Amino acid sequence: MVILKKIDEVRAQVKEWKKQGLTVGLVPTMGYLHEGHQSLIKKSVEQNDRTVVSVFVNPIQFGPNEDLESYPRDLEADAKLCESTGADIIFNPEPEEMYADGFVSFINMTGLPNALCGLTRPIHFKGVCTVVGKLFNIVTPDRAYFGQKDAQQLAIIMRMVKDLNFDIEIVGCPIIREADGLAKSSRNIYLTPEERKAAVVLSKAVKLGQDMIADGERDAAKIVGEMKKLISAEPLATIDYVEMVNMDTMQSIEKAEGHVLCAMAVKFGKARLIDNFIAEL
Ligand code: PAJ
Repeated sequence: MVILKKIDEVRAQVKEWKKQGLTVGLVPTMGYLHEGHQSLIKKSVEQNDRTVVSVFVNPIQFGPNEDLESYPRDLEADAKLCESTGADIIFNPEPEEMYADGFVSFINMTGLPNALCGLTRPIHFKGVCTVVGKLFNIVTPDRAYFGQKDAQQLAIIMRMVKDLNFDIEIVGCPIIREADGLAKSSRNIYLTPEERKAAVVLSKAVKLGQDMIADGERDAAKIVGEMKKLISAEPLATIDYVEMVNMDTMQSIEKAEGHVLCAMAVKFGKARLIDNFIAEL
């Protein structure tokens, strides 16, 4: 496995692979890799001849008061995880390599970003779409891997690929959790021991919502209401949102039917954590 910092180096290697008729998978990440990221890398290694993992803390997807500076980084540990999982390249560009002086072109989507996380993070998905679009053009993968953990991001990338005719298959991968249910996240490192314990309430709320649907409940307000009640009972939790939307359009729904996404963002001290479940009803 090699760590490449330059766009041209990645392009040259991928060109070589394609000449040999090899397929290429891409796993875009911001690093500080854990078993959630690893599950995406594993899937890519299974499904493609070669796998590129990008490790890039993308400055343009962070708002002015967000955690760009403090976002955890550990390239050495990331390299070990990628190598042992079978990745072939880590693409780890400097911000100046991705955003040269005078950079002014962005991928901006209407509709889907104006919901859930997009409401409290207004520039976030513009930054995500732009960097992912750039990575797609640099790596030109056959497949790219995204986690359901970031369900709105997954829906947005699927729509972007469709709208802008990227010839890439997007593979969605399930949420990987800690033993007690907390979804694995690079940001879990921000939690104090007390907050870490309290954060389990997120996966409990997911389970509650899923159980209500399994029992036949279809009233979105009722389901969301019970989930909010459970989370609010945890003194260290501050709800940003708990919502039920259509997974493809991100529009609010009153009845749980069709392709349903029930998503939440909750703050515990410095950490803003997300969790969700998807149902086909
Ligand atoms: P990052 O938060 O590093 O996540 C990289 C990928 O790993 C995303 O597709 C995310 O959904 C997936 N992932 C994270 N935790 C997961 C878990 N517990 N289970 C399954 N998958 C998980 O998402 C980003 O980076 C960035 O926005 C990026 C797409 C790289 C653009 O900068």
